[in-house]
Amino acid sequence: MNGSSTLVCRQDSRVSREQRELLNVQRGQVLWLTGLSGAGKSTLAYALEARLYLLGRRCVVLDGDNLRGGLCADLGFTPEGRHENLRRAAEVAKLFVESGVICIAAFISPTCLDRAMVREIVGPDDFSEVYLNCSLQACEARDVKGLYQRARAGEISDFTGITSPYEPPLRPTLTLMTECLSIEDCVQRLIECLG
Ligand code: ADX
Repeated sequence: MNGSSTLVCRQDSRVSREQRELLNVQRGQVLWLTGLSGAGKSTLAYALEARLYLLGRRCVVLDGDNLRGGLCADLGFTPEGRHENLRRAAEVAKLFVESGVICIAAFISPTCLDRAMVREIVGPDDFSEVYLNCSLQACEARDVKGLYQRARAGEISDFTGITSPYEPPLRPTLTLMTECLSIEDCVQRLIECLG
C-alpha cells in the first residue's frame, strides 16, 4: 500500500451508517443465538440466512465453529478463552451492523456476564438475544458431532452442560423451544423478531 492510500484508510469514512442502511433498505442489527451445543443454533442461523437472502435482505452468519477455525483459532474453552472469543465476535458483529447488514450470531455464549458484554459492544438498540431452549438430554441424545460422548468419557474438558456451566438468559428478546418447534416455525419467529 502506498503512502496516499494509507492516508485515505485513516480518514473518517464519508459514508454514514444511515446512508448504508438506505442503500440496503434495511436496518443493521444483530440476532444473537445462545444455547447449548446441539440446541440448533447453526442450523437455524443458516436456515434464516437462506430465507433472508430470498427476501432480498443482506445478512451474514457468524458461527462459533467457523470463527474458532480462523479468527479465534488461538482460543480454548476456559472462561477466559470464551470471553475473548465472544468479545471478538461482538466486535465483528458491530462492524456488520455499522455497514447496514443483519448479523446472525450463533455462539453458546454460556454466561450472563459475557452476553451482557456482547450487548454492550454491539449496542443495546441493535441487539436481540434469542435463547434456543433445548434440554441437555435432547442435545446429548442428538450428539451430532459426538462431542457429548467424548466429554462424558473425559476426552474434552470444560464442555458446556457437562463440565462447564450454561446460564440461561433471564430476559431474552425471544425464546425458541427447539425441541418442539419445526425449523420453519423458528425461522418465521426470527423474521418477526427482526421486524
Ligand atoms: S463459546 O462458549 O465460546 O460461545 P462457541 O459457540 O464459540 O463457544 O463454540 C462452540 C462449539 O465448539 C460447539 O458447537 C462445539 O462444536 C465446539 N466445542 C469444542 N469443545 C467444546 C467445549 N469444551 N465446550 C463447548 N463446545 C465445544
